[in-house]
Amino acid sequence: MARVALVTGGTRGIGEAISVTLKENGYNVVANYAGNAQAAEEFTKRTGIPAYKFDVGDFAACEEGIKKITADHGPIEVLVNNAGITRDTTINRMDPQQWVDVIQTNLTSCFNLSRLVIEHMREIGFGRIINIGSINGQAGQYGQVNYAAAKSGIHGFTKALAQEGAAKGITVNAIAPGYIDTDMVRAVPENVLEKIIAGIPVKRLGKPEEIADGVLFLAKDESGFITGSTLSINGGQHMY
Ligand code: CAA
Repeated sequence: MARVALVTGGTRGIGEAISVTLKENGYNVVANYAGNAQAAEEFTKRTGIPAYKFDVGDFAACEEGIKKITADHGPIEVLVNNAGITRDTTINRMDPQQWVDVIQTNLTSCFNLSRLVIEHMREIGFGRIINIGSINGQAGQYGQVNYAAAKSGIHGFTKALAQEGAAKGITVNAIAPGYIDTDMVRAVPENVLEKIIAGIPVKRLGKPEEIADGVLFLAKDESGFITGSTLSINGGQHMY
């Protein structure tokens, strides 16, 4: 039977590409979204992938969401923690809510959902958890202390959980995208974005599908020896 894969923030941007790529490759995909109901509806119409609305930063809401998904499709065996937001501004202008919102949505979400799917994965001796980090969690970024902290946290979370899952057949890996052509990146002021693109060795933004291919690779049953790793997909912008 097809494995059930949940992609958080899976109806737009990188998440949409991940949802579609996994579906095209035989997974039983469900997407989660938070706010944009119209986009989610159009996504489901376009792709045939069901979308479930809940706030990934809220444990109780995730619990409800996972219960519903499990009742409708069966237990989740592939989890892609992709949901993410930005609230960019320098720290002298950042208010506490902008800090909390980004940490909750981008990092606490990884705990919430992993916590809720891990027991089934441990029982069956198989699981794939793929967390979407960021180049800006690796290298830092002016105007993003909240986002960089959350994404950097994802990379630590990945390595710790990988150690816990290894003996149970559960791999936990991260992808660190660079600047990808999505609404999130297009929201960066044009003059700032031009300078960023000029600093990318391949001289262009990445495509959402280029991240989705990485997720597919890590999700495969055959990728069981890869765990605790970070796959950087950034056009050569940051190498280490
Ligand atoms: N390094 C050093 N100085 C910088 C800088 C940088 N990277 N970026 C801006 N500055 C300086 C500017 O030169 C300017 O200095 P002066 O006042 O001396 O001229 C000052 O900071 C203010 O710059 P802005 O006019 O841009 O100020 P602002 O307050 O309007 O905006 C900002 C500040 C919100 C940080 C804005 O510059 C911005 O949005 N930057 C982009 C941040 C970014 O890359 N976000 C990534 C979003 S995409 C994403 O997160 C996905 C992913 O994972 C990659």
